[in-house]
Amino acid sequence: MTKPLLWRPELELGVDMMDRHHHHMVTLCETIRERVNERAKHKDAADVFSQLVGFTAMHFEAEEDLMRRSAYPGRMDHQDRHHELSLRLKSWDERARRRDCPLSSSFVARLEMWVQNHILGSDRGFSRFLLNSNDGALTKRECVRSVSVCFV
Ligand SMILES: [Fe+2]
Ligand SMILES: [Fe+2]
Repeated sequence: MTKPLLWRPELELGVDMMDRHHHHMVTLCETIRERVNERAKHKDAADVFSQLVGFTAMHFEAEEDLMRRSAYPGRMDHQDRHHELSLRLKSWDERARRRDCPLSSSFVARLEMWVQNHILGSDRGFSRFLLNSNDGALTKRECVRSVSVCFV
């Protein structure tokens, strides 16, 4: 059995909006894992997975808006990663809604691996750019403040 994805300091990137969204995504993954492990709760697991799909779509839009406003040079590549995962999440969501194809613990492990790898890879790269850049369209302080105001 793989280790569950739990929130830990390593996942904090120092950009308020991103950290709050990622924390919520990790919490949803934990809930999905718990429900998948209780086999009778398949529908509950699928419902929480749908919430994760919707929340992730909103989160990607928020990150991409921030990339545009901060003139992030890695934006196109990062958006491609988001696009790939969005397509995969939608198809998994359709399958999870079918009674004959319940979410499995190996599926949850793959999902958690993706979330973790994206935060520690593409997202960390973007957060470092934000925190180190003073000559982008947004300064670090403006960026963090505007995100705190605009996105829940
Ligand atoms: Fe992210
Ligand atoms: Fe991202």
